[in-house]
Amino acid sequence: MSQTNTRPQWSSRWTFILATTGSAIGLGNIWKFPYIMGEQGGAAFVVVYLASILFIAMPIMMAEIMLGRRGKANPITAMSRLVEESDASSIWKLIGWLGVAAGAIILSYYSVIAGWVIEYVRLTGLGGLTSLSSGEISTQFTDLLADPMTMLLWHTIFIVATVVIVARGVSGGLELATKLLMPVLIVLLLVLLGYSIAKADFAAGLNFMFAFEPSKITYEVVLSAVGHSFFTLSLGMGAVMVYGSYLSPNTSLLQVSLAVVAADTIIAILAGLVIFPIVFSFSLEPGVGPGLLFITLPTAFSQMIGGAFWGTLFFVLILFAAWTSAISLTEPVAAWVQEKFSTTKTVAACVVGFIIWLLGIATVFSFNDWAFSFNFLGVEKSDGLFDVFDILTSNIMLPLGGVLIALFAGWGMKRTISTQELQLPDSWYNLWYFLVRFVSPVAVIIVLLFLLFGPLFSGD
Ligand code: PHE
Repeated sequence: MSQTNTRPQWSSRWTFILATTGSAIGLGNIWKFPYIMGEQGGAAFVVVYLASILFIAMPIMMAEIMLGRRGKANPITAMSRLVEESDASSIWKLIGWLGVAAGAIILSYYSVIAGWVIEYVRLTGLGGLTSLSSGEISTQFTDLLADPMTMLLWHTIFIVATVVIVARGVSGGLELATKLLMPVLIVLLLVLLGYSIAKADFAAGLNFMFAFEPSKITYEVVLSAVGHSFFTLSLGMGAVMVYGSYLSPNTSLLQVSLAVVAADTIIAILAGLVIFPIVFSFSLEPGVGPGLLFITLPTAFSQMIGGAFWGTLFFVLILFAAWTSAISLTEPVAAWVQEKFSTTKTVAACVVGFIIWLLGIATVFSFNDWAFSFNFLGVEKSDGLFDVFDILTSNIMLPLGGVLIALFAGWGMKRTISTQELQLPDSWYNLWYFLVRFVSPVAVIIVLLFLLFGPLFSGD
């Protein structure tokens, strides 16, 4: 237990909230949420999304932070301690392994995408996107994907930047980085919002995002809301767990989870209010994923007065959001290497960074030399190992990790322990307990089945 006593801690619950929010806010908030909200029922979608965040994802978030804080170690060690403490089956240890493995795999491709963002900071910053036609902009993106060396360079730089932060430890690294990056991120977002309100077609953006269209809420929309609420909060992969392991025992888990959930949702909505007015003011079609960030928006920036400036701000914003998420993906793996092999954080972070960098090479070449196509349950995929990693983690490992966390907290762990950790009034505790025992696992299992077998039935 002596190791437990010297374990670093966040200097306050605010830094925990800030760091966890930094993990939560990422590409999911910027390239996915605004679009699914606009496409899938606007304000009506928000109601469904809020319900799934509050009743399905947040109880799991509280459970995941609780497991980390109680286990006081990296996810793998923490889970073995907790299993022992509750005399539970060893099968639950899978939670730790899944988390660490998913974190490493996700980071390997997340870093390559973050590398594209760096390339776009460079392109916009140097004015390389000014006055190009939309065809030229889209060729530029295709050219980037066909150029593994440029991708490798930025992937390397991004991994190094992430490793440097993780190597510096909790207070000198994670805390310092989030304290510097998050305020900048928020200021950038607000400045861009100012632009969208003053100069772009704000009314069209508002209308796209908030038109209340309950008829668009199908069961698929509900499932995508649940799936997304889960990904956007970084659940099920040890990131939130390891951050929880540095949290002081008397912090209210309900309060901190609520704060993270609120911040994540507000920022996702604000990101949409920045993006869509810009897209609509240039009569472009909104879209989702890489096309939105690397083709649609650059097209708008290239035609906009002062586009080089606004475009650079925008890509720096995304880069910072991706960086704080990447840090949280590295930390569980690095903490495990450090604690398992009793080495320093610097050595652990470098070893982990190197392995993830190597793994990332598979993604770098997935878009060019090593590209291959395959059929995933009826859906054609053409980006080789990148698609394999993405399916494996987003469709399988994350939801599975989430279900297991809920089930362990609700069924595997002794009830006295969760009562003691959560310190909630009885009625609140009972609500949480009911949600993690029944509601969250059932909902996530349905999503998991849908993600795996839904494409078979969708007819496309
Ligand atoms: N939550 C991040 C997003 O919304 C993604 C992420 C998942 C980051 C898991 C870290 C861990 O983009």
